[in-house]
Amino acid sequence: MTRSVHQAVLRRETVDALAVRPGGVYLDGTLGGGGHAATILDAARPGGRLIGIDRDPDALERSRSRVSAPDATVDLVQGNFREMTEIAGRLGVTGVDGIVLDLGLSSDQLEDPERGFSFMTDGPLDMRMGRGGDRTAADLLNTLDERELADLFWRYGEEPDSRRLARAVVEDRREGSFTRTLAFAEWVARIKGGRRGRIHPATQVFQALRIAVNDELGAAADGVEAAIRLLKPGGRLAVITFHSLEDRIVKQIFQRHAGRWENLQAGGRQWKGDDPPVRWLGRKPVTASDEELANNPRARSAKLRTVEKAAGGSTWPG
Ligand SMILES: C[S@@+](CC[C@H](N)C(=O)[O-])C[C@H]1O[C@@H](n2cnc3c(N)ncnc32)[C@H](O)[C@@H]1O
Repeated sequence: MTRSVHQAVLRRETVDALAVRPGGVYLDGTLGGGGHAATILDAARPGGRLIGIDRDPDALERSRSRVSAPDATVDLVQGNFREMTEIAGRLGVTGVDGIVLDLGLSSDQLEDPERGFSFMTDGPLDMRMGRGGDRTAADLLNTLDERELADLFWRYGEEPDSRRLARAVVEDRREGSFTRTLAFAEWVARIKGGRRGRIHPATQVFQALRIAVNDELGAAADGVEAAIRLLKPGGRLAVITFHSLEDRIVKQIFQRHAGRWENLQAGGRQWKGDDPPVRWLGRKPVTASDEELANNPRARSAKLRTVEKAAGGSTWPG
């Protein structure tokens, strides 16, 4: 297994936002190349604990040697972060001090042609982050009906030519299935007609397929909710997003939980139920410095948002 080439974005900012301290318990739900995890682990030593989760078995292999320390406890687990409560529970952990979710894809995945994420290199139209189970991008392209495809391109890619592309997919797949990334990317460019801007014409369609194959938006929503519950009172959740669709989801969930906290602060009635209140740590997202942008263009669209779970527990008396 080759070493990771992924550069963690907003690495220092994330560890600072989580206020990592020696002896604390932390969870990285998107282990990737282990950049954030290694930095968190370093700050949590001696005596800390880190649970690293990734749905991609290759990510675990790549980061195993980087994310280890003799004076801390490390568990790396293959799984979906939307199941972090069960994963932590199996390790005997029911509350953590800090959680990071660095959403999306790693450069290791993007740059491996065999994974099928890139429209720049030839590979199978796969795009499964976890390799097993889910339908591949080719499965979606070759089986969804025209309406479902148009909806997918529009909702997950904000692709303005979604209808035209969907109609053309259904027509052209009669001649043979879509199977390869490069051929499909060129086909998209042809259908969209010579408009070549700064971004490749297939960018949005590729993003849409990737999000659908991996149910990324559903996982992000479930993961953020699960994370807020798993935090100990006073614990912090840092989420890094890379496009407006996932940022909107994170913002809305944070806002709902923060609204409950603000209501309490204003002397509002307490409520029954188990939706835990959180406090925003800064309303504006943190973005990459000029220095980071110069070294890592991928950081351009990164937004870091952090909340702290309000002290006092997650169940409130009615
Ligand atoms: C942007 S990378 C994370 C990079 C990492 N923070 C680092 O420093 O190297 C995102 C990683 O999250 C994983 N991932 C995405 N969605 C996931 C999910 N729902 N559950 C578990 N892992 C997920 C991907 O497989 C990928 O390895």
